[in-house]
Amino acid sequence: MTTIPKQLESRLTEAFRRVLGEAMPEDYGTMTVNASQDLRFGDYQSNAAMVLAKRVKMNPRTLAMKVIEEMGNLSLATVEIAGPGFINFRVNADYFAQYMQDMINDERLGVPTAETAKTIVIDFSAPNVAKPMHVGHIRSTIIGDTLVRLARFMGHTVIADNHIGDWGTQFGMILWGWKNLLDPQALDADPIEALLNVYKEVNKRCKEQPELLEACKAELVKLQSGDDENISIWKRCIEVTKKGLDKIYNQLDIHFDVWLGESFYNDALPGLVNQLMQQGIARESDGAVCVFSDGFHKPEDDPFLVYKNEEWQSVPAIIRKADGAFLYATTDLATLDYRMNHFHADSIWYVVGAPQEKHFKQIFDIERMRGVTGDFRHVAFGSILGKDRHPFKTRDGETVSLQNVIDEAIERAARVVEQKSPDMPSDEKAHVAQVVGIGAIKFAELSQNRLSDYIFDWDKMLSLSGDTAPYLQNSYVRVRSIFRKIGEKRIPQQQTAPSPVQLNAAEELHLARMLARFGEVVPATLDDCRPNLLAAYLYDLARAFHSFYEACPVLRAEEMIQSSRLALCDLTARVLRCGTGLLGIEMPDRM
Ligand code: ARG
Repeated sequence: MTTIPKQLESRLTEAFRRVLGEAMPEDYGTMTVNASQDLRFGDYQSNAAMVLAKRVKMNPRTLAMKVIEEMGNLSLATVEIAGPGFINFRVNADYFAQYMQDMINDERLGVPTAETAKTIVIDFSAPNVAKPMHVGHIRSTIIGDTLVRLARFMGHTVIADNHIGDWGTQFGMILWGWKNLLDPQALDADPIEALLNVYKEVNKRCKEQPELLEACKAELVKLQSGDDENISIWKRCIEVTKKGLDKIYNQLDIHFDVWLGESFYNDALPGLVNQLMQQGIARESDGAVCVFSDGFHKPEDDPFLVYKNEEWQSVPAIIRKADGAFLYATTDLATLDYRMNHFHADSIWYVVGAPQEKHFKQIFDIERMRGVTGDFRHVAFGSILGKDRHPFKTRDGETVSLQNVIDEAIERAARVVEQKSPDMPSDEKAHVAQVVGIGAIKFAELSQNRLSDYIFDWDKMLSLSGDTAPYLQNSYVRVRSIFRKIGEKRIPQQQTAPSPVQLNAAEELHLARMLARFGEVVPATLDDCRPNLLAAYLYDLARAFHSFYEACPVLRAEEMIQSSRLALCDLTARVLRCGTGLLGIEMPDRM
């Protein structure tokens, strides 16, 4: 299937070519058509005439008029000119009805696959061993998972890589703590928590006893030089952490193809640094090895410069410290090499908080210096705030752990379910609470513009009205209940929709308009790595469904109309299910 705006784009582009002939700029591809913000102006809109008029030195309205005339009568839409030269399209109801029919028969619900299938490595979640996986990691985990699902759905090959922080200075303290403080029972009960407590305790003691810090450093040096005992403790730490994380990921239904943590790249680091020095990209400075600006960018865009004290100062990327230790940046360079060589990645997307922006800009810029090219993106996000607009913390000021957030969400969802459906069997209640609670956390995250900070508000995210997962789930359940009432046997089957879709009422037409947009929204969501586009769309769709359901009786309608409305209901359920599925959110059958 071809989406409606794509069909309009090709008509429009042809018409422009005929009108402009030789004058058509050669570098000009397809004219773009977008959904209108305001339905009074039609369903879709293009500003191509205004953009092109400048290039060919014509009056934009004159150009638009000629193009519209050239397009003639379309079966698809009526075309109008507006304002300084906008071209507006109002899709014909018959055409929407036909499009609904096609969607019903399309497994992909009108979503095209990507023109070129790519290999995309998505680096997300990536918590640090023996450090808490906190709410900041929630954002990466949930956004990353959605991108994986979207990219796969679009036909790309995706490698979901959990680049855990399994090598770092925290292991000095952990090793000492493991040997001197560890409670094996606590470790069995909750490994992540136990390691974290050890880390916190040692950290606290180090502040009081500086000689302990030395002992920890000595443990770290032993680990780095390959001491058997320390290596085996370190391996155990990773093993138990992975087990604990797996439990969380399973609850969230989030999965990785590989877990190539930082330590995986250790052996590659010395050679990489030497290579960068030989290539003249890195050089020694005060005993350390650094990459400095090569002057390629304007100072404002140069990630190796910062404006301070009224001048541009150098902020090199350090890739080997004077004591010989390698850094986060060194590992990321080696990781990128591996992904390019081993996975043959076209794209590598890093779902990591905005504070690491400079780091990734430097990494990508070093790759440019090395002549390594690809679609490298830092998919950044802001922080999660509490209701007081300060970073989200527990009552005693600790960072909130992801496991606690999940537990609380399920507990709160259970109360919502209890209130709504007290008579539901208890195992179903528990299942629905899980689906609603986890859905609520995910949707609260994904409906935000990822770059902004957002306020974590339990009541809001679990509300049955507003743009929340429970609202979408409830809409889905409502559609399903229509079919339950009418008897499952009457569900319009794919391929054999009994009678054609009719769009008479304004609410029917609007529901169809919203359904038809699914095929545009999914690719756009992935292009920009902006799950909030899809989330907002699903909310609008659910609202369109509710207005339709209020205005257009289904159960009491006469047969032909009923069959058409049932087809719209079923299509709505399918799009809701598919769309929320791409966000990693499950739909319950009842709630
Ligand atoms: N472990 C890091 C952190 O918690 C995130 C790693 C992100 N991925 C990467 N390739 N640097 O901040």
